[in-house]
Amino acid sequence: MKKAWWKQCVVYQVYPRSFQDFNGDGVGDLPGVTARLDYLQQLGVDVLWLSPFYQSPGRDNGYDISDYRAVDPLFGTLADFDEMLRQIHRRGMKLVIDLVVNHTSDQHPWFQASRSSRESPYRDYYIWRDGVDGGPPNNWGGNFSGSCWTLDETTGQYYLHTFGPFQPELNWANPRVRQEVYDMMRWWCERGVDGFRMDVISYISKTPEMPDGAKKPGSDYGDFAPYVINGPRVHEYLREMNRQVLSRYDLLTVGECGGLTVEQACRYANEDGSELSMAFQFEHMDLDGGESFKWNLRRIDLIALKKLLTKWQKGLEGKAWNSLYWCNHDQPRIVSRLGDDSTDALRERSAKALALCLHMMQGTPYVYQGEELGMTNGRFDSLADFRDVESLNAYRELTGSGRVAPEDMLAYLRYKSRDNARTPMQWTAGPNAGFTSGEPWIGVNPNHRTVNAEDEVRRPDSVFRFYQDLIRLRHEHEIIVYGSYELLLPEDPQIFAYTRALEGERLLAVCNLSGREAAFRLPEAFAGGELLLADMDDTAPAQEMVLRPWEAFAIWKENEKP
Ligand code: GLC
Repeated sequence: MKKAWWKQCVVYQVYPRSFQDFNGDGVGDLPGVTARLDYLQQLGVDVLWLSPFYQSPGRDNGYDISDYRAVDPLFGTLADFDEMLRQIHRRGMKLVIDLVVNHTSDQHPWFQASRSSRESPYRDYYIWRDGVDGGPPNNWGGNFSGSCWTLDETTGQYYLHTFGPFQPELNWANPRVRQEVYDMMRWWCERGVDGFRMDVISYISKTPEMPDGAKKPGSDYGDFAPYVINGPRVHEYLREMNRQVLSRYDLLTVGECGGLTVEQACRYANEDGSELSMAFQFEHMDLDGGESFKWNLRRIDLIALKKLLTKWQKGLEGKAWNSLYWCNHDQPRIVSRLGDDSTDALRERSAKALALCLHMMQGTPYVYQGEELGMTNGRFDSLADFRDVESLNAYRELTGSGRVAPEDMLAYLRYKSRDNARTPMQWTAGPNAGFTSGEPWIGVNPNHRTVNAEDEVRRPDSVFRFYQDLIRLRHEHEIIVYGSYELLLPEDPQIFAYTRALEGERLLAVCNLSGREAAFRLPEAFAGGELLLADMDDTAPAQEMVLRPWEAFAIWKENEKP
C-alpha cells in the first residue's frame, strides 16, 4: 500500500460559527479559531478542516456562498484568515478548507447575472429549463423539502437546486464554470491552504435528460439520486480538476459523496492519485434512516453496522482510502445516537468505547469539535430553538401535510436534527460555556456545567485524554494506519471486535458497544500481548473475560519468530 501524509494524520473539523466567538457578537469567528489553536495542538490533531467562512447570506450557515474569495464579516477578514493559517502552520498543523461548488448562493454575482436575461453570458453557469404543463420540468424533490426547481419570473424559466432554492446548482457541463472554480482553488492554494473538503461533490454531473424520478416514500416528489449522484461525467471533471489544480500542490482532498458505493469510492479515491485522496461515505449514518429518511427514533443495529463498516474496510484495502467518522456538522452527536448519555459515567465510557472502535480502523479519522469532550445532543425545548433550514423545512412539510404529528416531529428533530452538532463548543462551566460574551446564535447545552473542555483537559481519565491517547497511538504505530483488517464475531449483538495485521505485528480492538455485560474469549494469538489502551483503568485481558458495559480496549502483539 502506498504511504502518504494524509493517511497518517487525524483531522479535526471546526464549524466556525459554533467554535469560539472572539468579538462578542454571539457567532464564532476566525480570531476565535486562532485563539484555540493551542488546545487543538494539545489534543494532537494534525489537520483542521474548517467549514465555510466565506461571504454568504448564511441561509445554510455558509454552505450558500456569494463570494468565494472573501471572508464573511461575521467571521472576520482575510487578514484574520492569513493570521490563523500562519498560526496553524507555525504549530506544525495543516488547514483544509471547505469547497462548496455544486451550487452557489442565489446572491452570487454569477447567479444575479444569470437570472437577469436568457442572453446573459452567465446564463449557462446554472441549469435552466422550461416548465412542463404549467409546473416544474420534472418531479424531483430537494434535500431541504419541496421541489428541486424554482420558477424565476424574470425569464420565465426554472432553475435547478438539489438543496434550498437559495442554492442554485452550478452547471459543471459548462467549461467556463469549471475554469472559474479551478482559478478560485488555485487562489486559495497560493494563499497556503493544504487541501479541500469538497461539499456534495458526487452531485456535480447531472444526467442531461433529467427524467422524472421514482416516487420517494412518504413524499409527493420523485428521487433525483439516479440522475444526479455519481453522474456520467463526475470522474472526468475530477480528473480535470486534479490535472489543473490538485496535482500541482501537496494536498489532502476529501469528497463528501452522498450515495457512495465501494465501487465508486475506488474511483473517487483511487490509489493512483488521479482524483481525490479519500471520500466520505454515508451508509453507516443512514442505517437508522430507512423510508422515513432520517425522521424517526430508530437506533443503529450493531450487527448491521459491523457488517457495513467491514465491507468498507475490506472493499477499499489497497485500492482506495477510507475516511473514518462518527460525527460532523450534519449528524447528531454519536454518544446520544449510538452510546448512552443518560448519566455522566455512561456518557464518558460509551464515548470512549465508540472512539476506540473507530480510531483503530484503517483510514483517516475525523474528529468533530466537541466529540473529544463527549458532547451530547443539544436541548431544544420547542421548535423555536431550532435554527437549521433542513429541520425547519422538514417540520413544515411533514406536519403541514399531516404525515407526521407535531409532537412526533419534535421528538425526531431532538434526536436527529443537524442542530445537535451545532450547539456551541463547551469550553468552560461558566456563562455560555465560554463560547461568547454575547447572545449565542443557538442555545448552549445546559450540560456544559459538567461537560466542558476545561474540566476534560484537567482530568486524567477524561474523554479528551482518551482521544489524545488514540491520536498519539496512531502516530506511534504504523499498524493502526496501514494494517489490514479482519472482523471477529460478526453475529455478536454487543461486541465490535476486529484485528489488524502488518508484517511482524498484530493488533486487536475489542469494544462492548452495549450497556450490558458480554462474554469474550481472547484469541490465542493475543495472549500475553501489550494492552495499548482501555476505557476502564482496571481492564485485564484474559482468556475468558466478561466485558463490562461499554468496556473497550486494544492489544498489540509482535508475531512470534519462527
Ligand atoms: C453538505 C453540507 C451541508 C450542506 C449541504 C449543502 O451536505 O455538509 O451542511 O447543507 O451540503 O451545501
